[in-house]
Amino acid sequence: MKKAKLTLSNGFFVGETDKRIFGSFIEHIGRAVYGGIYEPGHPSADGDGFRTDVMEMAKKLGVPIIRYPGGNFVSGYNWEDGVGLRENRPRRLDMAWHTVETNEFGTNEFVKWCGKMGADVLMCVNLGTRGMEDAKNLVEYCNFEKGTYYSDLRRSHGCEKPHNIKYWCLGNEMDGGWQIGCKNAADYGKLAKNAAHYMKLCDPTIETVICGSSHSRMPTVGDWEKEVLDIAWDHVDYISLHQYLSDNEHDLKNFLAKPMETERYIKFAAAACDLVQGKRRSKKRIGLSFDEWNVWRRTMNQKITEWDEAPPIVQDIYDFSDALVVGMMLNVLLRNCDRVKIACLAQLVNVIAPIMTETGGSAWEQTIYYPFMYASKYGRGRVLTGILDSPRYDSLEFTDVPYIDATAVYNEEKNEISIFAVNRDTEDEILFDISLLEFSGKREVLEHIAIEGHDPAQINTLNDVKVLPKQKEKPVIENNRLSVKLPPLSWNLVRVHLKQMRKLRQKAL
Ligand code: AHR
Repeated sequence: MKKAKLTLSNGFFVGETDKRIFGSFIEHIGRAVYGGIYEPGHPSADGDGFRTDVMEMAKKLGVPIIRYPGGNFVSGYNWEDGVGLRENRPRRLDMAWHTVETNEFGTNEFVKWCGKMGADVLMCVNLGTRGMEDAKNLVEYCNFEKGTYYSDLRRSHGCEKPHNIKYWCLGNEMDGGWQIGCKNAADYGKLAKNAAHYMKLCDPTIETVICGSSHSRMPTVGDWEKEVLDIAWDHVDYISLHQYLSDNEHDLKNFLAKPMETERYIKFAAAACDLVQGKRRSKKRIGLSFDEWNVWRRTMNQKITEWDEAPPIVQDIYDFSDALVVGMMLNVLLRNCDRVKIACLAQLVNVIAPIMTETGGSAWEQTIYYPFMYASKYGRGRVLTGILDSPRYDSLEFTDVPYIDATAVYNEEKNEISIFAVNRDTEDEILFDISLLEFSGKREVLEHIAIEGHDPAQINTLNDVKVLPKQKEKPVIENNRLSVKLPPLSWNLVRVHLKQMRKLRQKAL
């Protein structure tokens, strides 16, 4: 039997997970808003027209921050169209997705929805067709208390208290040729700098995210980050990363290796930030905001006619292999928690999403729902610097791919270690030895759950949610080693309670 080993020590850790890495994203695209989170007339809709079935499922994902309103959509959006009396709101062409936007749902509805979700807003301003003035006006509308044009406009729209939105994205994917109003690094850097400066003059408590490259394979990746950061350094707090993995090559082993590219991208973006920091001899450390990530098979197919309202576009149906890749991308985010401070699974409902709905009908969990839910629930705490020794393979694009991808998180409050592990091996079970070294004393394995035993192409449907975690027999700990059998092609979570550690700690106090 193949064997792998993970060595953990309480003394060595990467950092604490920032809960904001379990964020998500709602764009005005397809059925994400209309028929997704908002559907007045739906049997589960509350008084605001929010689907409570969707809200309950989204709450189980524990998303603490949600990006809005785009995405590509934001680069042609007038935020003023989406506030005030509904009957006065204009119907507009959404040039990004070639649909019609009714503006029935806008900023105040989204803030209210996030309030019910218990989530913060990551607001994105339009730096495609618009500029610093409109961005500042939106900050004033949302965050200024009262007594000025925009703050009083908000109050006249029924929102007496300011929304106090703290996190702001300075446009979306501004280096991409597909982006409305895309720019070169120098032009965007200047605009982002001026917009962030002006927005922060209005509310100095906000934090801003400058656009990094649209994805890791952009031709200007690296140069773009250096240039825009150098220009806007004093006014920005984070830089964005976006990445969608897909199985373009129709090669499972290669697809499963792709989260290695996510890890390289993070290291590379962090290096670009550090380069500019060094050059400027600055004390400031730029955080990474991985504010769009997921698997995306690019099924742009379901478009029926142009200029529809909320057509069913980009409704990817995820399979078991996608759940494994999403599980590994989450492991990567956790392992880089010293740099990744915000991350948004793109998106939340219907559009490349863990939750799917039928308009007027039910909602169901896609395969990727479960790895996310468990990472969000048990991935909060101190990410341990595990030393992994795993057999490896080579794939079409990657060499030395470890069969096992694993990350361990120690939660001090619960006194628990959670180990997330994916076995990439398509044929063999792997015996995974976890050496607990300093986590000695009395320990109890709480559970081993796994998503396993499916055809890689297995999907979930409304009436048949097959790909979901199941309880496994609890592994035993012997001589400081926890030995877990990881089935071929499987996502696993093993949770261990450390009875003794808490006592030792209490004694020390
Ligand atoms: O999430 C879908 C789209 O992907 C977003 O609108 C855009 O930012 C990205 O290219």
